[in-house]
This record gives sequence, C-alpha cells and structure tokens, in this order.
Amino acid sequence: MISFRELWGQLAPIGRDPDSGGYLRYAWTPAELACREWFRAQADARDMPVEEDGNGNLIAWYGTGSGPAVLTGSHFDSVPHGGAYDGPLGIVSAFLAVDRLPRPTDRPIGVVAFAEEEGARFGVPCLGSRLLTGAIEPARAAALTDRDGVTVEAALGARPTGATGLLDRVERYVELHIEQGRMLEVPVGVGTAIWPHGRWRLDFTGEANHAGTTRMADRHDPMLTYAYTVLAANKEARLRGAHATVGRVYVEPNATNAVPALVRGWLDARAADAQTLSGLVEAVHKRAAERAARDGTAVTLTEESVSPVVDFDGVLVDRCAGLLDAPVLPTAAGHDAGVLSAHVPTVMLFVRNPTGISHSPAEHATDEDCEAGIEALAAVLA
Ligand code: GLV
Ligand code: MN
Ligand code: MN
Repeated sequence: MISFRELWGQLAPIGRDPDSGGYLRYAWTPAELACREWFRAQADARDMPVEEDGNGNLIAWYGTGSGPAVLTGSHFDSVPHGGAYDGPLGIVSAFLAVDRLPRPTDRPIGVVAFAEEEGARFGVPCLGSRLLTGAIEPARAAALTDRDGVTVEAALGARPTGATGLLDRVERYVELHIEQGRMLEVPVGVGTAIWPHGRWRLDFTGEANHAGTTRMADRHDPMLTYAYTVLAANKEARLRGAHATVGRVYVEPNATNAVPALVRGWLDARAADAQTLSGLVEAVHKRAAERAARDGTAVTLTEESVSPVVDFDGVLVDRCAGLLDAPVLPTAAGHDAGVLSAHVPTVMLFVRNPTGISHSPAEHATDEDCEAGIEALAAVLA
C-alpha cells in the first residue's frame, strides 16, 4: 500500500512557486490540470472509473455496491501563493482511505475533486459545488471572468451544465481538510459549523490628476476613501468579534505621480451569525460613504458571493466524534462541504495545523497527523 509521504510527494512539485514556496494552482490552469491528470492516474491505479459532471468536478468511483453513495474529497486549486495542504490533503487522504477499506464495499464511494473552491481565478468560491447543487445559475457562472477576461465557459471548454442527478445518488459527504486556525491540540477533530461569510467589491471613484500640480484641497482622491474604509472595516469587525479583510486591491491608472481615478478593493467579511455579518457590511459601507462625501469621491458596494451559516449534520458529527474520540470545532473558513450540506448530510474532519497558518506558503501539517487523518477518514467511511 502506497504511503502518505510517497503520494504527497508526487503532488508537491506541481504548481509550486520556487521563490515563495507557495502554490499557484488556479482552476483550469496548467498546474491545476496537471493535478487532475494525477487524479486520473490514481483512479486508474485503483480501477476507479472517473466521471466528469459537466461543471469541472471530477468523481472517481470505487465499489459497485447498489446502495446510495458516499462522497469524499476536496479541491486542488489554491489561493495565490497558498499552502500545499488546503484542498489537496482531502483528495490524497480520500484515495488512501479507500485503500484501507474492506473490499468490496457495500456502497459506492466517490472520491471528488471540486473545481475553483477558492474563487481565486473567477471570484466566486466553491464554484464547482455551487454549480453541482444548483446554488449558482450556469449562465451566471459561465460568464464570470478571470483577471485576463477569460470566461469560465472558455476555461472549462463548455458551458457548465449545472445541477445534474448526481446528488440523487449521494447519501453522505465527508471532507477532510487541514484545520486553518490554532483550534486543534490533537491530530484530528470533527467540524460542527461554518461561519456565514461573503465577498463584496468596493469601487471608489475620483478624479485622476497630477501629483505635483494639484493642490491638496482640490483633489478627489479615491485612495483616501479606500484607506479610511480598510481601517474602518478592521475596527467594525473587532467591535463585533467578526472578521474583515481587504486582501486584494486594483488601482487605475496605478501611477506613482498621478492621483488615482479608481481604487477597487474586495472586502471579505465573516461573522458567527448572519445578523452580525450583515451589520458589519452595512457599517463598513456607511463609513465608506461618509468618507467619500468628505473626499469628493464616490463609492459603490457590490455583493459578489455570500455563503450562509452552515451547521453540519448533528447525527454525523456525534457519530464521528464518538467513533474517533475526537473534539468538535467550528470554522470560519469556507468549504465545498458547506455548499453540499444544504443537500446531503455532511460532516468534516480537520487535521491539526501546528502554527494555525493557512492561505500562505507556511501552512503545514505533520506526516503523522496526516496519517491519523487518513485512518480517521477510513474509519468514518467504513
Ligand atoms: C476558503 O478557503 C475560504 O474560506 O476563503
Ligand atoms: Mn482555502
Ligand atoms: Mn480548502
């Protein structure tokens, strides 16, 4: 039986940036496609036929049992310069857990690789699972563009099909994932819930002008409105025990000696409940608008995606926690498991992250903890 270290080592070089040590595995780019080739080879090696669902998701089927299926897996795509574990650990662990199952199984097991979970290329996270479950219209998804103007339809090579009958055949979903905070003191935990969260685009517009000759009093500088708004978002989030991040920004004309005409920032906001989240976003918008009035600029806020609160299936959570003698914990990170949980009973397993760092090249889990995660997943599947 192939070891975790060996299988992990096969994926490790794919899409790794030699300078940052992080991963550039955006959906349907050569690095992510190479991961998909690896997936097909793993499926072939186990005589698992691979199904493509028309939405960019791949499912490798194990076992011929006639009962409803259990799906397990995660995603290959990364945030820019992301860590190795966020996503791929769930797919590698799924194949290795299948290796540990009694054969034949009395249920089909589907190992799944979901497309564009991070939304790093096309902006909407969990795009593959949203399409599969009907949570996003195929026409809207098809028209999403990346930073170079390439559409999802062009990247996928076809218009996504949207919800198919696939989920009618699925009875449970379990996703193993690296834990993304410092919440686990033992190798494996069981996920209970996901905070509601979303992405909002803020467009700050002003007047491009000369950095040398324009008097300070005469400027309409959207960078000032933007800067104030970032600080206000941080403060409003802290006041509510919520999280707010502006991690992506775009400037026009982006010149050292010009007052900008446009600053576009993306607000990622998360909170323990929907009311706190909407209150946070409203407060940030209000303070941005107030500042825009002072700066002689304008601001618009556009919702790009929102993911409601998720409570994983209580029966599954209790059964897994009992079976594994593992602690339970919620997360503020989004997952395909969150999208699926509105349709099939779903649970997550988390593998300890010693530093708590994620979405960074420094993300890490020990081989021993990853092995424990595989054993736990195999036990849950069994
Ligand atoms: C996914 O990693 C997210 O929570 O943004
Ligand atoms: Mn992630
Ligand atoms: Mn992930």
